[in-house]
Amino acid sequence: MSLFQVILLTCVMTLMVNGHKSCSRNAGLMKSIQYQLKLVEDNNGKCDCTGRDSRRDSVTEPDKVAFMAKTISALINIPAKSTVVYDTVVTNIGNGYDKSTGIFTAPSNGIYIFSWTVLTHNHKYFVTYLALNGNVIIKNYTGANSVADHISSSQNAVIEIKKDDKVFVKVLEGNTGQYMIGNHYSSFSGYKL
Ligand SMILES: *[C@@H]1O[C@H](CO)[C@@H](O)[C@H](O)[C@H]1NC(C)=O
Repeated sequence: MSLFQVILLTCVMTLMVNGHKSCSRNAGLMKSIQYQLKLVEDNNGKCDCTGRDSRRDSVTEPDKVAFMAKTISALINIPAKSTVVYDTVVTNIGNGYDKSTGIFTAPSNGIYIFSWTVLTHNHKYFVTYLALNGNVIIKNYTGANSVADHISSSQNAVIEIKKDDKVFVKVLEGNTGQYMIGNHYSSFSGYKL
C-alpha cells in the first residue's frame, strides 16, 4: 500500500469519525505530500533536502581553483630573480599552474591563499619570495651558511587578485639559489577561497 493510499484511507476514516471539516484539512496535507512525492519521483528518488545546489560539489566546477606542485630533482645554482619551477604537479584544479614555467595564472578574480616551502642543505642558501606579477608579496630566508644540518623556509600569503594575475616563487635579487632539495621536500601550493 502506497503512502498516498494510507493517507487517503486515513482521511476517509477521519471523515467517518469526525465529519467533513477535519477531512478537508487532511486533504490539504495530502495535496502537499502528493506534490512532494512527485518532486522526489521526478528526481529519480533523490531529494535535495539541504537546499544546496549539488552541482557545486563537483571538482569540475569551473570556478574551483586549487593547485599543488613539488620537486623531485634538486635545483642547483639558479640565478637571482629566476622563477623557481616546481615541476611535479600533485593537484591542478582549474589548470592555473604551469609546471614548465612555475607560474600560476589566476583563472578568475578572487581571494587566494598561497604557500611555499624551500629546503636547503647546510652551507647553502636558496632565498626566495612570493611574487605577484613579478613584485614581492612576502619573503622567507633559507640560508644555512652557519647551520650544521638542513634548513627550510615557508610562508603563507592571502591576497586578492584578478583574473590573469601571475603568482610565482622567485629567487631573491642579488642571490644565487644555490641548492633547493627536491625529493618531495619543497612545494608550492595555492587555492581560491
Ligand atoms: C620561514 O620559514 C620557517 C620554516 O617554515 C619558519 O619557521 C619561519 O617562521 C619563517 N619565517 C618567517 C619570517 O615567516
